[in-house]
Amino acid sequence: MTRRLLLFFSILILAAVLVTRAQVLASPEQPVAFNHQIHAQAGVQCLFCHSSALRADIAGIPSMQKCMGCHTIIATDNVAVQVLTSYWKRKEPIPWVRVSWQPEFVYFSHQAHLRTGENCETCHGDVGRMPLTRPAVKMDMGWCLDCHLLQPEEKVVRLADCLTCHK
Ligand code: HEC
Ligand code: HEC
Ligand code: HEC
Ligand code: HEC
Ligand code: HEC
Repeated sequence: MTRRLLLFFSILILAAVLVTRAQVLASPEQPVAFNHQIHAQAGVQCLFCHSSALRADIAGIPSMQKCMGCHTIIATDNVAVQVLTSYWKRKEPIPWVRVSWQPEFVYFSHQAHLRTGENCETCHGDVGRMPLTRPAVKMDMGWCLDCHLLQPEEKVVRLADCLTCHK
């Protein structure tokens, strides 16, 4: 009887862990159904839209003006593009829901990482094949440190210092 009970609770806990994990890595619903895969297939580069990544902490979400540079002409009969256009006409910014984010007390910089040759996919997964953007990994402290501790020895002291990520 106790063994059955134990098994029952183990399954319950496992299920809870799996559900939480699936929730953490699910794609949030967006106000406009933006599709990375379609844009990657059309040959639009990551840095064309996320152009701050090489020179600032943030990568940046493109302005509506950038979208409309193409979508006043391209796919104007697409329903999702019409939703985009209605935001544009109302002069209302699109309230995109964040996919990967860190709490306020964490300092992260794109520039620092791209300078050393990391690419987008290392951290965000194969976004160019995602019809809906979803987090590829749980970006917690252990994940950051796993990579920082693998760096050349002379850098590890700095990269593992609390104040590098918590200013
Ligand atoms: C460089 C040109 C370009 C830019 C900039 C651009 N798009 Fe697109 N977009 C395309 C092309 C090409 C397609 C595919 C059209 C087709 O399949 O007929 C597309 C398709 C779409 C679709 C329809 C997808 C579907 O499910 O069929 C949506 C929605 C869309 N874009 C939203 C956006 C948003 C939002 C932005 C700004 C963040 C943006 N686009 C910026 C070129 C662009
Ligand atoms: C046509 C413009 C466009 C292109 C090209 C584009 N993105 Fe995006 N990206 C967006 C928009 C708009 C969002 C916000 C909506 C969303 O999350 O799907 C976004 C969101 C993201 C996010 C999630 C940000 C967050 O935390 O909310 C990541 C990561 C990302 N893009 C990476 C990439 C990578 C990597 C590429 C190249 C393979 C790429 N993007 C190409 C427009 C673009
Ligand atoms: C070393 C890991 C790493 C690499 C490499 C990386 N990112 Fe990020 N990215 C993150 C983290 C962590 C966040 C959350 C940052 C925050 O909330 O302060 C993020 C947030 C974002 C966001 C949303 C917030 C913002 O900064 O605008 C976008 C868009 C994005 N990344 C796109 C990209 C693109 C495009 C590339 C490649 C050019 C890239 N990232 C490379 C880790 C990375
Ligand atoms: C895939 C590997 C990888 C991941 C994941 C990663 N980093 Fe880094 N990080 C690096 C490398 C490599 C450097 C650059 C070291 C150098 O300057 O040569 C760096 C540099 C930094 C710097 C700049 C340090 C300085 O003094 O210049 C900060 C801040 C930082 N990372 C924070 C983070 C945070 C926060 C996360 C998790 C959200 C994270 N990193 C995830 C590899 C990574
Ligand atoms: C490479 C970057 C990095 C370094 C170095 C780092 N942290 Fe963090 N830390 C993070 C990130 C990212 C988070 C937020 C995600 C999370 O909670 O795991 C975090 C969260 C935390 C939290 C909040 C935990 C919670 O559950 O809310 C504490 C406390 C903390 N760090 C303390 C430290 C201390 C102390 C050190 C030095 C021994 C340190 N960190 C070094 C990246 C880092």
